[in-house]
Amino acid sequence: MAPRERALKRRPRRNLHVRLVVGISGASGVVYGIRTLEILKKLGVETHLILTEAACETIRLETDYKKTDVEGLATEAHRIGDITSKLASGSFRTDGMAIIPCSMKTLSGVASGYADNLLLRAAEVTLKERRRLVLVARETPLTLIDLENMATASRAGAVILPAMPAFYHRPKTVDEIVTQVALKALDLLGVEHELGHEWEGSGSYDRREKA
Ligand SMILES: Cc1cc2nc3c(=O)[nH]c(=O)nc-3n(C[C@H](O)[C@H](O)[C@H](O)COP(=O)(O)O)c2cc1C
Repeated sequence: MAPRERALKRRPRRNLHVRLVVGISGASGVVYGIRTLEILKKLGVETHLILTEAACETIRLETDYKKTDVEGLATEAHRIGDITSKLASGSFRTDGMAIIPCSMKTLSGVASGYADNLLLRAAEVTLKERRRLVLVARETPLTLIDLENMATASRAGAVILPAMPAFYHRPKTVDEIVTQVALKALDLLGVEHELGHEWEGSGSYDRREKA
């Protein structure tokens, strides 16, 4: 059994009552959002998923998943146009929200408060209720508009987590790189896990090489 699978089997009980909103927008890297849902499902976290229309297209173009497969990973999937959803109200308590990946269009909606779909409304609710909002922004290069939107969203309380994997763990596969970005987002949302992507100091390299 792979180390990640073993760690997921020993899921920390502290996540049993954690409730998160996961938004997937139409930026490249929808697999980051899918991996996030897979991990949260195995950890027993309650998840509420919102997919934008562009995300459904990107899932079709970039992955072998069907929209229904992705929705099936969440505890509950919500329609992007359903502005009457419980996620549109601050009275529905959550422990935070990640938009992963976050397109520049969705970022601009968050930064300007233009909440014309359920994803943007849920993000607005997360900010107004002073809950943690993690935006896994994905675009390159960035325009001044994107940079200013990031600064505005950050000032409003969001955490900007660009989809920029680190390489000091020496990932061997794309799968490891994807998981690392997903775990970084989950760390920022306070999800307890033992999937170990913490940097242990350069001594860990020396130990690994001697082993
Ligand atoms: C294959 C594909 C990849 C894309 N990658 C990005 C991206 O990395 N970043 C981005 O901001 N937009 C990207 N786009 C464009 C967005 O999908 C588009 O701006 C869309 O209107 C975003 O809508 P949404 O934020 O409601 O999902 C991509 C589109 C496609 C089809």
